[in-house]
Amino acid sequence: MSTPSRTLTLVARPDGVPRDEDFALLANTLPDLNAGQFRVAVRYLSIDPAMRVWMSEQKSYWPPVPLGDVMRAAGIGEIVESQHPKFPLGAWVSGMTGVREQLISDGKGMRRFDASALPHPAWALSVFGATGLTAWFGLTDIGQPKASDTVVISAASGAVGSAAVQIAKNLGCKVIGIAGGPEKCAYVRNELGADAAIDYKNEHVGKALDQHCPGGIDIYFDNVGGEILDAALSRLRMHARVVLCGGISQYNATGKVRGPANYLALISARARMQGFVVLDYLDRADEALAVMAPWAAAGKLSSRIDVLEGLENFAEALRRVYSGANFGKQVVKV
Ligand SMILES: NC(=O)c1ccc[n+]([C@@H]2O[C@H](COP(=O)([O-])OP(=O)(O)OC[C@H]3O[C@@H](n4cnc5c(N)ncnc54)[C@H](OP(=O)(O)O)[C@@H]3O)[C@@H](O)[C@H]2O)c1
Repeated sequence: MSTPSRTLTLVARPDGVPRDEDFALLANTLPDLNAGQFRVAVRYLSIDPAMRVWMSEQKSYWPPVPLGDVMRAAGIGEIVESQHPKFPLGAWVSGMTGVREQLISDGKGMRRFDASALPHPAWALSVFGATGLTAWFGLTDIGQPKASDTVVISAASGAVGSAAVQIAKNLGCKVIGIAGGPEKCAYVRNELGADAAIDYKNEHVGKALDQHCPGGIDIYFDNVGGEILDAALSRLRMHARVVLCGGISQYNATGKVRGPANYLALISARARMQGFVVLDYLDRADEALAVMAPWAAAGKLSSRIDVLEGLENFAEALRRVYSGANFGKQVVKV
């Protein structure tokens, strides 16, 4: 008895923002299980800005998704059939599922988690998944915060940014979030607990940073690159750390990527600017979760989940993170 499913494959390399036509939704069938295998019904897919990089031919920490292959994605799902003793029927798993409805796995790369213990199953993709680990290790390992530090975080209402704001506050830092629009800025201040929020769509970021960080910036956690990175670079305090997490303002660039014009400020500030990739920290996940889980239980760490339904809306979900239409961790409900 074969099982019907659907997969979304990459059929063209996007020029600029991804279009629906860059993907094809295909019907397929899954074979019967062998011993040591289980079948997962994917429930939620993680939408990650870096997907745009994986779709292009540009050199990155992962090879490009080959044309005609299923689109790469992290996901979570429920086991609906099993012949694997460690992955029983009904258990939830997370892993690199790809953009599809169902898959057969032997357990490699899959991690079980207790969805009933989470406010929303997609927390396993957000604050308790790679997103939360990105915020934690980017901030603590690369940023090395001290309690009195002034920390500036861009894309502060987003998945990584919102976790980074709360982590930095819980560690006793002064936190300034940068986000687009009054509603997101109110969320960054009132719900995430930032000391101030800068609306980069309606305020002059440099002047606002001068106002909120009169002594300069100790840590700039950069999710966006471009002009905001430049504004932060020229306001670094001595021995500042610039955490290069992402550069979403540049991912869809059709011309040259904009480099930091103000990088010479690193010299006089004796500052450090360092990139990182969360994949290098996955084997240290327990270290981060040992701190973050009690914070979440105490109401000091939360995650907003933004759900778009339907595999066929994958490209639209991806466009939402580039336009800023998402509010919190963008996921697709399959
Ligand atoms: N290094 C790593 O291992 C790693 C791992 C995961 C993610 N990341 C990076 O972390 C960043 C955030 O990812 P996420 O998943 O948490 O996404 P997200 O912040 O939930 O969504 C992206 C947000 O970026 C903002 N944005 C989009 N275009 C912008 C622009 N031109 N200028 C300023 N802001 C812009 C939008 O917020 P506004 O409405 O506020 O504009 C949007 O909501 C991305 O750069 C991603 O690549 C890095």
